[in-house]
Amino acid sequence: MKNTHFLALIILLSSFHAPLESKETLKNTVGQHFAIGCAVNTSIVAHSNSKAHLLVEQQFNSIVAENCMKAEELTPREGVYRWGQADRFVKFGEQNGMRIIGHCLVWHSQAAKWMFYDKKGNLVTREVLIERMRNHIYSVVGRYKGRVYGWDVCNECVMDDGSMRNSLWQQIIGDDYIELAFQFAHEADPDAELYYNDYSMTNPNKVQTVCALVRDLQAKGLRIDAVGMQCHNGLDYPTLQEWSDAIDSLASTGVKVNMTELDMNVLPRIESFSGAEVSSNFKYRKALDPYRKGLTAEAEAQINQRWIDIFTLLKAHEHQIDRVTLWGVHDGMSWLNDWPIKGRKAYPLLFDRQKEPKPVVRDIVEMF
Ligand code: GLA
Repeated sequence: MKNTHFLALIILLSSFHAPLESKETLKNTVGQHFAIGCAVNTSIVAHSNSKAHLLVEQQFNSIVAENCMKAEELTPREGVYRWGQADRFVKFGEQNGMRIIGHCLVWHSQAAKWMFYDKKGNLVTREVLIERMRNHIYSVVGRYKGRVYGWDVCNECVMDDGSMRNSLWQQIIGDDYIELAFQFAHEADPDAELYYNDYSMTNPNKVQTVCALVRDLQAKGLRIDAVGMQCHNGLDYPTLQEWSDAIDSLASTGVKVNMTELDMNVLPRIESFSGAEVSSNFKYRKALDPYRKGLTAEAEAQINQRWIDIFTLLKAHEHQIDRVTLWGVHDGMSWLNDWPIKGRKAYPLLFDRQKEPKPVVRDIVEMF
């Protein structure tokens, strides 16, 4: 072979990404530094031969339920509990020796609305709501005692400006609903880890309030193991510095930090809108859905670089981070296809719509 041909061949070969060896998975690499998890829906759990189901088994060592453990799903009416989906979710995790995360016990959204009202439709008293919260937490945490590794006890109780959210929990019970929830969860399963979880957790006002909350729980002798930073992020927010500072601040309280709902929204943002309040909903416009037919090479390169930067950052903070969980498995199932605008085509995860690893997965695996 002529030298020039040989050189051309070498260049050609090195431009290909070799396929991942079956042992070179996220859980065998990243998962040795901190748990690496994903949110699964009931369809993934149910279809044991589906590509997505097998992908979860192969790549991840922790799972969280996307919806089936939320109160509105578990207890749609007073006196009624529907356990089927949550039971199957927990069994799936056990069959694979995964760290099973319970999400979530007390949240203003997807709550069991009946808990807040009496038969006449009036708000219940503080005493009644405390009792209902205790019953709910005892029922759910108690049912999976010794099987669920840790619980998101309270989700999204702080606003972006650092004030406490004026939810029905807060209005009816008062700010101490948070400590009561942690107390009840600990009583129901003393061995389970307990977490506080929220979005926009790089926002300094919010971080400050959450740190104060953690310290307050600790001062009262209540168990809290970690703070969950949801990590619904975009190509240019938060900055890596903001992320790093927030992890340091949260970890300085002595708890671990979990990156709990990591995904990347690469679609154009709505002006004047930030955060991850799930009830937000804006009108569809074509200009806000630029990748209907696929990503441009430029966008893809930008996204890959952002993933590398994120995982480089996470690795640098691995002494503070206990778990990283992606909010979903592959692009096709992500909530970001429908939020905050319905019907867009999003690319927020590490596996594509064919459930194949994106090229950047190899880079991440190599990094670890
Ligand atoms: C919040 C919740 C999650 C999920 C996402 C969107 O972050 O914590 O349970 O609902 O919104 O899917």
